Amino acid sequence: MKKSTAHHQVLLCRPNHFRVDYQINPWMQVGSVDPQKALAQWNNLVSQYQKLGLEVEIIEQNEKYPDMVFAADQGLLLGDRSILLSNFKHPERRGEGEFYHNWYLDHGYKVTPLTQDLYLEGGGELQRWRNYLIIGLGFRTDLRSAQKIAKVFDKEVLYLELDKQQFYHLDTCLMALNKDVVFYHREAFSASSVRELQSKVPHLIEIDDTEVANFAANSVVVGSTVVMQEGNSHLARQVEGFGYRVVTVDVREFMKAGGGVHCLTGDLGGLTQSDSASQKQRQ
Ligand code: ARG
Repeated sequence: MKKSTAHHQVLLCRPNHFRVDYQINPWMQVGSVDPQKALAQWNNLVSQYQKLGLEVEIIEQNEKYPDMVFAADQGLLLGDRSILLSNFKHPERRGEGEFYHNWYLDHGYKVTPLTQDLYLEGGGELQRWRNYLIIGLGFRTDLRSAQKIAKVFDKEVLYLELDKQQFYHLDTCLMALNKDVVFYHREAFSASSVRELQSKVPHLIEIDDTEVANFAANSVVVGSTVVMQEGNSHLARQVEGFGYRVVTVDVREFMKAGGGVHCLTGDLGGLTQSDSASQKQRQ
């Protein structure tokens, strides 16, 4: 099963058992999902990634874990074929890890688990930007966990306090486009975290209420292309203004569980950022 290179890969989970059975964030509407629509939306996302030159790895969903489709949350790439495995805060999601753990091992990854007392929800909560790790705190990860996790990476950390239930994960309200440009929803963060971002980011740009609620911040940057939930024309125009191409998809069924494009996409090396659009052409 082992492949020669981990570059340009993402991991997605086929949503054969995607449902909303419980409510652990305010977006979740129990019983609201149309399974066929969800599968069609997901298939389209996979083919868009393939068109962009990404190799899409697929894990099958276990029927007991309806949120297992959110592959971004499962782990963080530490280096080539090395994964830091997540530990979910809510008991409803804790069992997902075992399936991802096995998948990573079967595909030749070294897996570093977290001790049971630490919580982290992978790319949902932690983003790499410049030489920093940006970690969202408050709902799913706490400062103590984040500080221990930061030691695993040799990077400076920006801890950001998430202030609103709807923005329970960092990737619902912040998206780094490149080393100069970060989009965020100001009201999602505490005042001191907003100041912290303002002091560090050269172009810090706000996402408005309407678009953030349409999961605009949950976009994925693939080279010089940004894959985005449709209906976010304001953000799309701004992203294009920085020299990126926008590809829109519709993953609205997944938004009923509080997740969008980014949440569905596990990074196996395909999403690693470089400096600007012009340096990122790879198609
Ligand atoms: N229902 C899931 C939860 O609340 C959604 C997770 C979405 N993932 C994300 N990276 N925002 O845990």
